[in-house]
Amino acid sequence: MMTPLAPTMPPNPAPSETAAARPAQSKTGQTDWPAESLQDLLAQLKQAESEAVANATANTSPKRLVEPAAPDLGKVNVITVMSSKGGVGKSTIAANLAAGLTQLGRSVLVVDLDPQNALIHHLQPQSPRPVEDAASGIANASESASDWRSLCVATAAGPALLPHGLIEENERQAFEQHLDSDRYWLGRHLEAMGLADGAVVILDTPPGPSPYLRQALAITHQAIVVSLPDAASYTALPLAEKLIRSYVGERDDFKGCRYVINQVDRSRQLNRDVSLIMQQTLGERLVGMIHRDQSVSDALAYNRTAVEQEAHGQGFQDLVRFAETLMGQLPCASEGSATL
Ligand SMILES: Nc1ncnc2c1ncn2[C@@H]1O[C@H](COP(=O)(O)OP(=O)(O)OP(=O)(O)O)[C@@H](O)[C@H]1O
Ligand SMILES: [Mg+2]
Repeated sequence: MMTPLAPTMPPNPAPSETAAARPAQSKTGQTDWPAESLQDLLAQLKQAESEAVANATANTSPKRLVEPAAPDLGKVNVITVMSSKGGVGKSTIAANLAAGLTQLGRSVLVVDLDPQNALIHHLQPQSPRPVEDAASGIANASESASDWRSLCVATAAGPALLPHGLIEENERQAFEQHLDSDRYWLGRHLEAMGLADGAVVILDTPPGPSPYLRQALAITHQAIVVSLPDAASYTALPLAEKLIRSYVGERDDFKGCRYVINQVDRSRQLNRDVSLIMQQTLGERLVGMIHRDQSVSDALAYNRTAVEQEAHGQGFQDLVRFAETLMGQLPCASEGSATL
């Protein structure tokens, strides 16, 4: 006999109280996966969203209205770089992909959605005021700064960069609550920028579930999951896929996820074996395999990307090839010279 399902959802939860909206990291730094099933989380998210819309509509201030409709980004390609685990090379890959696609003729905007604010150190700002550039960004811009173009930083490698900006802990908490309550905050700001058809937007995210990843996946067309060739990363891959399904929802314009294995060390048997298993499991969805290369991490000290460096190292060459592979899979730009 089937046991009736016990109700798992408290009545009328506030958006910030849902399991999916709770901070993903415990105090010990370990990911706190919600105990609820994915279906329960989706139901909670849906309910929280409709309540957020209802609350915003009830508010008399028009500035606080939440738009339920998905933003229209036209023919812009949005790519999210993500991972279940931290320190796997997301920011390195996002910066190098942005630089590589720029060199191949695409207009690229790279957005740092991680409070670590690290991307500005990968992509050297072309500015006489680099200190101020490092501190200001999308997280500390006033909501009235509706056009994010004024926040864009030109970089030595070519792509335009929207830094996250440096914020205090209490500001981060308030910012994340805001992101939780306004699903299309990022999408609306990008829409307001009026990016050219064919432009590419690359979103760098923190590891694991977060309000930042949720914002990114609400509008992304393609997710790039970065993994190391080790057992822990391999076992975390299904979690990444679950997260994608949960955050993307039902969207026809989402073209699925691709995988990159980073920091491959062929001198290690386990690295070779896990890489092979991933290759066999993922097939064509594995779009890049990047070797561990000391000069890749050294480049960070000089704010350089692979395309700016003399790309002799295997890791640099892999990064350049990865950008070429992805370029071949992107829808064509209507005009090759489209600018942001
Ligand atoms: N192919 C590579 N070879 C050698 N070192 C690498 C390679 N890729 C990344 N690294 C180094 O690994 C470290 C972590 O990289 P990165 O900051 O890009 O990871 P991340 O996934 O963005 O981290 P986080 O989860 O904290 O955002 C950096 O020191 C970087 O230089
Ligand atoms: Mg990072």
